[in-house]
Amino acid sequence: MTITLTLSPHSPDPELIRQAADVILRRGLVAFPTETVYGLGANALDEEAVAKIFHAKGRPSNDPLIVHIAALDDVKLVASETPPIVKTLAAAFWPGPLTLVLPKQPHVPASVTAGLETVAVRIPSHTIALALIHVSGVPIAAPSANRFGHTSPTTAAHVIDDLSGRIDMILDGGATSVGVESTVLDVTCTPPMILRPGGVSREAIEKVIGRVELRDNRPNLAEEAQASPGLLGKHYTPKAELVLCKGERVSALEKLSELAKQARAEGRSVGLLLANEDIQSFASLSCISYPLGSANNFEAIARNLYAGMRALDDKNVSLILTRDFGEQGLGLAIHDRLLRAASQII
Ligand code: TXA
Ligand code: MG
Repeated sequence: MTITLTLSPHSPDPELIRQAADVILRRGLVAFPTETVYGLGANALDEEAVAKIFHAKGRPSNDPLIVHIAALDDVKLVASETPPIVKTLAAAFWPGPLTLVLPKQPHVPASVTAGLETVAVRIPSHTIALALIHVSGVPIAAPSANRFGHTSPTTAAHVIDDLSGRIDMILDGGATSVGVESTVLDVTCTPPMILRPGGVSREAIEKVIGRVELRDNRPNLAEEAQASPGLLGKHYTPKAELVLCKGERVSALEKLSELAKQARAEGRSVGLLLANEDIQSFASLSCISYPLGSANNFEAIARNLYAGMRALDDKNVSLILTRDFGEQGLGLAIHDRLLRAASQII
């Protein structure tokens, strides 16, 4: 049975945090909000607890987990080295949506790191996440709290849909604010390399540490993906067929309108995952729209993206139409998630 506790996101009841920490210390699984997406947490130093994460999610064991800590000093609990660049990045971005890949401590279970010699670490900025880690007194391994292959959850309801009955507890702290996962930055290489774009932009990182590389995550790079299996192409997929239209706004909307017209003529139900101002072009076609926010407000688009995919799936649309918003700033993470979710890119 899964217990759901409702907490204030800003001042969570210490007694409820204590109950959740007890579950962690008894080798259980607790889903909790972070500023990016909900995580599914277990004691990162307990092999048996970590194994339950993979089982609950149906996650392949070759996909390593992120370890969440509450203070910079705790990096040394899981990483064998804390190079100066970690302190620089931590000063700029922690607590926050940046995950650093570092050489691992031998005592971190191989299941956490999928057998790699490195470990991924971050300090989340959500008050509930920080309180849970702090009161548990152990680093918490947590992937996103969804079934493997589904989009990451940005509300407790999403977690319930995916994992109810499979985990011990869900801490409901409302909707998450960033909405896409953390940026994963490998700092064991020079220059450092972004393995997954996310909540902290490449531009923001480069302002602090200079040039970084960006790993090519195109979905067909099967061999590359083996080196960091979480970067497998099909990872964030809605049930409906999702068509992503690249290119500049006006021509993308023209193409998408054509597709919508055709699909409606065939009697298909069509979902629009688009910016508020994009949706007007489809007014006459009776589509189901999920406005993501204003086209130039990437924070809003990122925050609403996964919720939109899930909402349109819940309405049983057979086709979701969306477009690319460019690769600047947070746009890069949005672009990456849309590429992975797409059944077709035009
Ligand atoms: O925002 C987030 O990062 C959320 C919240 C809960 O913190 N977590 C999350 O975890 O998205 P997950 O498991 O869904 O994604 C973890 C990513 C995967 O792409 C995985 O391959 C990568 O981090 N990763 C973990 N450890 C790694 C390592 N040692 N080397 C390279 N990549 C690693
Ligand atoms: Mg995930």
